[in-house]
Amino acid sequence: MDAAALRAEFPVLERAAYLNAGTCGPVPRAARDAARDAWEQAVAEGRSGPYYARLAAERERLRAAYAQRLGAEPADVALTTSTSEGVVRVIEGLGLGPGDEVLTAPDEHPGLLGPLLAARARRGVRIRTAPLADLADAAGPATRLVACSHVAWTTGALAPAALRDLDVPVLLDGAQGAGALAVDVGALGCAFYAASGQKWLCGPVGLGMLWIAPAHRDALAPTGLTYPNLERPGDGLDAAPLPDARRHDAPSLALEHVLAALAAHETLAAAGWPAVHDRAARLAADLAAALTARGLRLAPRGRTTLVSWEAADPAAVRTRLAGTGVVVRDIPGTPYVRASVGAWNDARDLERLLAALG
Ligand SMILES: Cc1ncc(COP(=O)(O)O)c(C=O)c1O
Repeated sequence: MDAAALRAEFPVLERAAYLNAGTCGPVPRAARDAARDAWEQAVAEGRSGPYYARLAAERERLRAAYAQRLGAEPADVALTTSTSEGVVRVIEGLGLGPGDEVLTAPDEHPGLLGPLLAARARRGVRIRTAPLADLADAAGPATRLVACSHVAWTTGALAPAALRDLDVPVLLDGAQGAGALAVDVGALGCAFYAASGQKWLCGPVGLGMLWIAPAHRDALAPTGLTYPNLERPGDGLDAAPLPDARRHDAPSLALEHVLAALAAHETLAAAGWPAVHDRAARLAADLAAALTARGLRLAPRGRTTLVSWEAADPAAVRTRLAGTGVVVRDIPGTPYVRASVGAWNDARDLERLLAALG
């Protein structure tokens, strides 16, 4: 499937220059059809044995798809509802307490900072911050965890590669990584990688993934053992947790979501993942160059799919652009307007954005 054929799978692109996958990716037709198919089965047959057998099989297909996007083994990937849930499971599951320090960057997403605030309030965990670029050098003797973005949601900057050399476990928030870039969790050298299904993988809101390095499997306690986390749920109080990352799966995932996520993943896969990643990064770089040429000040970024630039009133710019069919967002608490550029976009989307900026 070439770039034009991929683009044609996303109806929203017929009317809008949709540049907001960093919030939620555009939805391909196939995802809607797959979700509808799950509902048709539920309506026609009810939701009993065959429905749950299908859900169980499709969950494992989705786990395998997410694992591929992370360069991981399926057994090391938990199915969650979001990046935030994965972060909560790590920060709570490590059993950190008073005297333990977590090192993070001050401008991380609330999905990462919020769970840290809770750990500080409830467990007396100490939180220290340093700029994302300096985190590897900032780790000290009390640091038990470094928790930061793989790709910063504010700027599109990449986490420093030197994090992989730390002795301390690293939790990467991969909300802006999985699906956007070729992620290889082994090469990143992290202990945990949490990511979203609704952003760069164009799936429904309500699915995500958490990768747990085998070396850290035993250090992470499940935050709660529910039906899908147990080896034999019928064993009552003698039930044992599943041996792998499935012990961290979210308690309840909907068949319509799982099928839609798989269909979206297959749509992107049909274009070829290297092509998807390369096209998005190239278009984002083109946009960055065009904005710079206009004299706009860009946030320092890496070779990622996010492009942020400064504006006097970022929310007003977002609203004005939305009025012309150009969908971007502002980043609260920063001077930035952010465009998210995917393989489904094309040069016309970028031209529309530049024209709307005036
Ligand atoms: C860096 C980062 N982390 C976490 C999140 C939250 O993602 P989710 O809604 O999947 O929890 C976002 C969403 O914008 C994000 O950009």
